[in-house]
Amino acid sequence: MPTEKGVLGEPECGDSLTIYIKVKDNMIADISFLVFGCVAAVASSSMTTQLARGKSLEEALQITDKDIADALDGLPEHKIHCSVLGASALKNAIENYYMKHRDWEVK
Ligand code: FES
Repeated sequence: MPTEKGVLGEPECGDSLTIYIKVKDNMIADISFLVFGCVAAVASSSMTTQLARGKSLEEALQITDKDIADALDGLPEHKIHCSVLGASALKNAIENYYMKHRDWEVK
């Protein structure tokens, strides 16, 4: 089963998140994460994996930082940037998967 990872650092605070995805039949069959960050980053990372697991790659690409914050019943204003880690690292993992495991149409 092809795997890929996406990494993102938060320049404002120095925290970072790595998301690992396993893809089967264009679906996220499994997803995990390694985070170095605040409590909001840990919660956002965990919620990102819950929202993305079982979705198609295209559906998972639509997950936003707002979706993650909403699923957590909101975050304090000064912690909203922590939810960006999850959405962006997931997007990075999917983009890396596309780059390595899919044929690209050359225009
Ligand atoms: Fe750094 Fe939350 S304070 S990710």
